[in-house]
Amino acid sequence: MAEVDTEINGYIVPKNSQIFVNKWTIGRDSNIWSNPDSFDPERFLKREIDIRGQGFDLIPSGSGKRMCPGFPLATRMVPLMVETMIHNFNWKPKKGMKPEEVDVSEKFGVALQKAVPLKAIPIKL
Ligand code: HEM
Repeated sequence: MAEVDTEINGYIVPKNSQIFVNKWTIGRDSNIWSNPDSFDPERFLKREIDIRGQGFDLIPSGSGKRMCPGFPLATRMVPLMVETMIHNFNWKPKKGMKPEEVDVSEKFGVALQKAVPLKAIPIKL
């Protein structure tokens, strides 16, 4: 039995609970986003969004101490990669497919972790 529970919005959260935040749902909340299921990148030009984990309308890289530690690298690397590909090639969908027919559906998945963390001891040369 947990020693101290916490109450958040009327929900009892037992001490030591493992919490999964469904950020997929947050990013598709129709109270926050209009036409949340449409592919509409321009929506991000229309409003100020903090993706560094402090604004909770969109938390692509997590928040707080469990946020992606590679975030500063990712925010530079991903745009550079996409821009380089757009700059160097013209793109089209596969033969016979119209752009609006491209399937952008997702497959469910959860990243796993090692059950037993690897501990390596550095040895002086
Ligand atoms: C293109 C670069 C990268 C992208 C797009 C990326 C993306 C992400 C995303 C989406 C998450 C999930 C955040 C969440 O739980 O909500 C994540 C978590 C994480 N990333 Fe990255 N990442 C990148 C680079 C890196 C690098 C370079 C490192 C390590 C040096 C790293 C280490 C991690 C770790 C350890 C977590 C899990 C944090 C935790 O749950 O405790 N990532 N990353």
